[in-house]
Amino acid sequence: LNNIAVLTSGGDAPGMNAAVRAVVRTGIYHQLNVFGVMYGYRGILKNEIFPMESKSVANIIQRGGTILKTARCKEFYEYEGRKKAYENLKKHNIDGLIVIGGDGSFNGAQKFSQEFDIPCIGLPGTIDKDIAGTDSTIGFDTAVNTAIEAIDKIRDTADAHDRLFVIEVMGRDAGYIALHSGIATGAEHIMVPERKTELNDIIEELQANERRKKLVNLIVVAEGDETGGANEVARRIKESCPQLDTRVCILGHIQRGGSPSCTDRILASRMGYAAVDALLEGIHNVMIGIVNDKIHYTPLDKAVKAKQEIDPEWFKIVKILAS
Ligand code: F6P
Repeated sequence: LNNIAVLTSGGDAPGMNAAVRAVVRTGIYHQLNVFGVMYGYRGILKNEIFPMESKSVANIIQRGGTILKTARCKEFYEYEGRKKAYENLKKHNIDGLIVIGGDGSFNGAQKFSQEFDIPCIGLPGTIDKDIAGTDSTIGFDTAVNTAIEAIDKIRDTADAHDRLFVIEVMGRDAGYIALHSGIATGAEHIMVPERKTELNDIIEELQANERRKKLVNLIVVAEGDETGGANEVARRIKESCPQLDTRVCILGHIQRGGSPSCTDRILASRMGYAAVDALLEGIHNVMIGIVNDKIHYTPLDKAVKAKQEIDPEWFKIVKILAS
């Protein structure tokens, strides 16, 4: 192994920079040449590949976003695109590729590594935590902390007006951001795609709450919940409970930005280090995860999003603690 390249792909996540820094510095420590690729796979196709030094990653561990920029690249889904990518990587004699991204990015890496002789290592970088083979993903902890900061603020104003708030958080098809931020802010109800929620049951409870004068009600809805998101949930509540003063807040992309939390910086640093280590050890085409605080390898094809179960006990906790 002599020359490795690193890129960030798909939706950005806080901590991606810390992961890039770890890859670059670990590579240099092992006397490898490390190349950065701009804009994910698109940068390979456009040959936006440049050598990085230790100082290229100075002063970034605390920054959100990604200095390598990111993109979603349709061409890389086609064989012709991947062939061109291979040719460009070969121009720089790259013999190892580290991809920091989500499941879509791993799909591409998996195909690429099967077709061409450049080993790939994936690092899970997504706020959604929707990847198998790791207890968390780079960015999740920060996103959840951003969400709870926002929801705490919403609670203040909800309390002042005795209002019901329906708050929508991100997560694509996964409900982890909703589950964690909802529990951490004491939400009365949490709606996630992994578990069907009967909105009528919530409405009945809201009516009972009103009888017993529970004044603040927070409902956290994952954007992927099948009820159709916060606006639809609020519409149905307003229809059945016109007496409640109901408002909607969609947190949106603020959940993707900001300085990474300590947990995400450490996760990213350990994973970036482990990715270079794996390439040096000849471990190829895996995603680096951390399971029970130990580095864990998952073949790239197995890491792609599997709808995971959420233990029903979590919802029992929500119900008991919000009662
Ligand atoms: O995967 C991260 C994520 O922020 C999801 O939670 C969300 O559904 C999606 O990306 C939003 O994508 P975009 O940035 O393209 O609007």
